[in-house]
Amino acid sequence: MSSHVVFSLLLLLLLLFFSVHSFPYDVSCYIDSGGSTNITDPFNTTWLADRFFSGGSTSVVSEPLHFRYPQEKTLRYFPASSGKKNCYTVPLPNGRYYVRTFTVYDNYDGKSHSPSFDASIEGTVVFSWRSPWQENLARDGAYSDLFSFVKDGEADVCFYSIATDPPVIGSLEIRQIDPLSYDAATVGDNFILVNYGRLSCGSVQWGPGFSNDSDDFGRSWQSDAELRSENTSKIVNSVSTRETISGTNQPPNYFPMKLYQTAVTGNGVLGFELPVDAKLDYLLWFHFAEIDSSVTKTGQRVFDVWVNEKNVSRVDIYSQVGSFAAYSFHYTAHNLSNTVLNVKLLPVVGAPLISGIENYALVPNDISTAPEQVVAMRAMKESLRIPGRMGWNGDPCAPTNWDAWEGVICHPNKGETALVISQIDLGSQGLKGFISDQISLLTDLVSVNLSSNFLEGTLPLGLGQKSLVRLDLSSNQFSGPIPESLTSSSLQLVLLNDNLLEGQVPEELYSVGVHGGAIDLSGNKGLCGVPSLPKCSLFWESGHLSKGGKVAIGLSCFVILCVVLAVAYICYIKRGRYDYDFAPTHDLTSIAAKRNRYQRQKSLMVLEMESQHAKGLPSPYGPH
Ligand SMILES: *[C@@H]1O[C@H](CO)[C@@H](O)[C@H](O)[C@H]1NC(C)=O
Ligand SMILES: *[C@@H]1O[C@H](CO)[C@@H](O)[C@H](O)[C@H]1NC(C)=O
Ligand SMILES: *[C@@H]1O[C@H](CO)[C@@H](O)[C@H](O)[C@H]1NC(C)=O
Ligand SMILES: *[C@@H]1O[C@H](CO)[C@@H](O)[C@H](O)[C@H]1NC(C)=O
Ligand SMILES: *[C@@H]1O[C@H](CO)[C@@H](O)[C@H](O)[C@H]1NC(C)=O
Ligand SMILES: *[C@@H]1O[C@H](CO)[C@@H](O)[C@H](O)[C@H]1NC(C)=O
Ligand SMILES: *[C@@H]1O[C@H](CO)[C@@H](O)[C@H](O)[C@H]1NC(C)=O
Repeated sequence: MSSHVVFSLLLLLLLLFFSVHSFPYDVSCYIDSGGSTNITDPFNTTWLADRFFSGGSTSVVSEPLHFRYPQEKTLRYFPASSGKKNCYTVPLPNGRYYVRTFTVYDNYDGKSHSPSFDASIEGTVVFSWRSPWQENLARDGAYSDLFSFVKDGEADVCFYSIATDPPVIGSLEIRQIDPLSYDAATVGDNFILVNYGRLSCGSVQWGPGFSNDSDDFGRSWQSDAELRSENTSKIVNSVSTRETISGTNQPPNYFPMKLYQTAVTGNGVLGFELPVDAKLDYLLWFHFAEIDSSVTKTGQRVFDVWVNEKNVSRVDIYSQVGSFAAYSFHYTAHNLSNTVLNVKLLPVVGAPLISGIENYALVPNDISTAPEQVVAMRAMKESLRIPGRMGWNGDPCAPTNWDAWEGVICHPNKGETALVISQIDLGSQGLKGFISDQISLLTDLVSVNLSSNFLEGTLPLGLGQKSLVRLDLSSNQFSGPIPESLTSSSLQLVLLNDNLLEGQVPEELYSVGVHGGAIDLSGNKGLCGVPSLPKCSLFWESGHLSKGGKVAIGLSCFVILCVVLAVAYICYIKRGRYDYDFAPTHDLTSIAAKRNRYQRQKSLMVLEMESQHAKGLPSPYGPH
């Protein structure tokens, strides 16, 4: 074989490789909320038994036979006992994802009250359900979908209960898609694209979950019939073809060929009315393909596309891409003031024709909690053993239009780039754990109230951020010394009373009281060293041996050694010389014996106390 032939073969192989465009993203996760076994649906999709949720309970719709697929019949709901906020947290590689939820009520709880709740993705509210739902939605359920970036290794889909209504979810699908799709290069990765209509013109609903037709992104496409304007619906014709359409399934959008194989056309204005929510920006994608073989040259079918009475573009499909080829363009409608978005195709030459329209709300990402503070709060949740009813799930502060975790108050940081924790208020909550030393990462903490719980352990060294003004840890079982770090100059109120704290109180802390703040250290048997508390034993200084103490101990060791040596010298040398024994009188020995017994008893008692002490609590004077 000549090298020329080999080269041509290689080129051919390369061409083949690059023209096939197999979809390179294969991460996906299908969760059957409320389901207890893995199931495969009629479209060969495997749904995982319910997982990755933070709480809640499972139930079944009231009329299971009314639903086609097994994953639609079971659901998860989050009653008040699970807390106000609950999440699915799905571990995934960072990237861009298509997320679809199935939400259903169907009177599963027999209360005939469809619930009010919000749903968020990655800390941004995307869906709001308000009671009462439209009757068909309440009975049949509804699919909602969006495109979002995941940047922290997990997709957080959270539900927030309004009043005490339990949020519900029937199923959750997550599929990885091309990060550059839908003009991400221009729009940026700071928006979530929430689907407000994805129409396949002249077709019935199709796509993953609805038919065996594939769509690499998982998009399902609905019929345009219901969204055509009344005035035009009478003169619309559906057209379709089985010819191959070129330019489909191409990166980054991977629009499926089936989309372009059907279309609607009309002898006059073709109009669509898309439902929207006011005040957002909307990203519109228009899809065309010339599938009428009688159009054979430029200028035979020309029309203008208008969005909300604005002329957006003149379209001549043939002049753009020729026949049987996909042509798409997109347009952003800003700051809508109406709840209907009008799309009109006005004929210039021949009849207008369109294959599909997509409409996405551009929802800007809400700001979320600073990542290191999320880490700290998760550690606090763990160490304080926060009960499930408090709903410490998902992001501690975000979304901004929900309350933060119960007992937590947040505010934006200086640059307004992230939310930070400013207050923790968990007095009298029956908490039984300890304070994680990760609390030192909460650098904007102003106020901490953990009073009247059953918290124990030592106070972490990191407690005492510069920002800290109020600290109430009273009536717990905290032990050990007060950390030196607790000397923030902003402290105004320090309540450490009724604990088991020990050792010398740092002088700077005591000066809080001197400088007009309030401080209460009472009810700690082991604290010492400032006015109103007992004097510390000479050598203790906030739980450590003082410098003086160390010198004193060093000195006494030296002195004792000298004495021992001297006595040994006297006994050994002098005895050799004078050879007599020294013996105390009888009385003296018995007193010495009595004293020894007493000493023995006392030291046994002390030992016993100390060993019990050692069981319950770490030694406060151990190495730090
Ligand atoms: C369902 O499938 C997942 C992943 O394949 C597996 O880890 C899990 O054990 C299965 N669960 C059940 C209940 O079969
Ligand atoms: C269903 O999926 C499995 C792998 O997930 C595959 O092996 C099988 O061929 C598929 N069946 C059909 C009918 O597509
Ligand atoms: C989808 O394809 C599978 C296997 O080819 C078939 O069994 C099933 O009936 C099809 N489902 C629908 C809704 O067409
Ligand atoms: C539909 O027609 C009516 C009267 O024929 C007109 O008032 C209305 O503006 C038209 N609507 C649209 C969307 O063109
Ligand atoms: C609509 O805008 C296009 C350019 O985008 C222009 O060519 C066309 O003439 C305009 N149509 C009308 C009716 O003004
Ligand atoms: C959006 O429109 C409203 C009135 O409809 C106006 O008050 C507001 O300034 C507009 N915002 C932007 C960003 O254009
Ligand atoms: C801390 O919370 C308790 C309620 O559990 C309250 O009684 C107390 O006054 C609070 N402390 C401060 C300093 O506000």
